[in-house]
Amino acid sequence: MSNLKHVAIIMDGNGRWANRRLRPRIWGHVRGSGVVSDIVQSADDLGIRALTLYAFSTENWSRPLEEVSTLFKLLKKFLVKEKDRLLANNVKFKVIGDIRSLPADTIELIEEVEKTTRNATGLLLTFAFNYGGRAEIVRAINSLQIENPDKLISEEDLARSMYRPESGDVDLMIRTGGEQRISNFMLWQAAYAELFFTPTSWPDFTPEEFRKIIDNVSGRERRFGATSSRVALKQTLSQAEKNRSIFSQGTLHHV
Ligand code: IPE
Ligand code: IPE
Ligand code: MG
Repeated sequence: MSNLKHVAIIMDGNGRWANRRLRPRIWGHVRGSGVVSDIVQSADDLGIRALTLYAFSTENWSRPLEEVSTLFKLLKKFLVKEKDRLLANNVKFKVIGDIRSLPADTIELIEEVEKTTRNATGLLLTFAFNYGGRAEIVRAINSLQIENPDKLISEEDLARSMYRPESGDVDLMIRTGGEQRISNFMLWQAAYAELFFTPTSWPDFTPEEFRKIIDNVSGRERRFGATSSRVALKQTLSQAEKNRSIFSQGTLHHV
């Protein structure tokens, strides 16, 4: 079981992958969309609590219309193909971002899958679509101001006003495709995320590479501003606390 509860992935490199094969960029998106279900399955197998996938940014509108509409169609195709499997696998699905500009039938489908999986208790799967991290923060501030105009906004208020607060802070952000930037993704949630940039293009990304990245990052020490010795001390204290509670319950002989 991984200690990384929330993993976010910037699925990048589709266009270049296709161009290297002398194919149009949209071919890369088609092949890339085929990788998504394997990675979702693998996240579930690895015991990850929340997986957030960046599928379309607010900045991606500036691409050619044909490419934008292909990305919309692929989202719909994924949902049609996978909705039963998501439900069967106890996956709780949600799209974050401004979906109002999507075709009506796609919006209906998103709402249907969100509704049918709303009581699921397994993996929290999120697609970020027409999503921007800054837009998410601005939206949260505006909704808090409408809720209570006189109250000063705290970090806790903002955290609970993000699109999907139950996913929590991002523990690990992976970007495929070789670029080393976060392109307006999860700006609030990724404040202390581990970052992993792989040169592998998204259509070539495999569950094996995903597993290796998780193993690699699970071994990193996350200090959250403390020093190494403090982190070790905290771990020792929490182990001591566990030991004490086992003793106090008189259950030592079961350990
Ligand atoms: C990522 O691949 C998919 C989306 C941004 C929708 P790109 O289309 O950005 O591929 P590259 O980065 O141009 O290779
Ligand atoms: C980020 O990739 C957005 C998604 C993967 C959906 P881009 O390819 O759009 O990002 P930039 O333009 O390289 O920053
Ligand atoms: Mg790109």
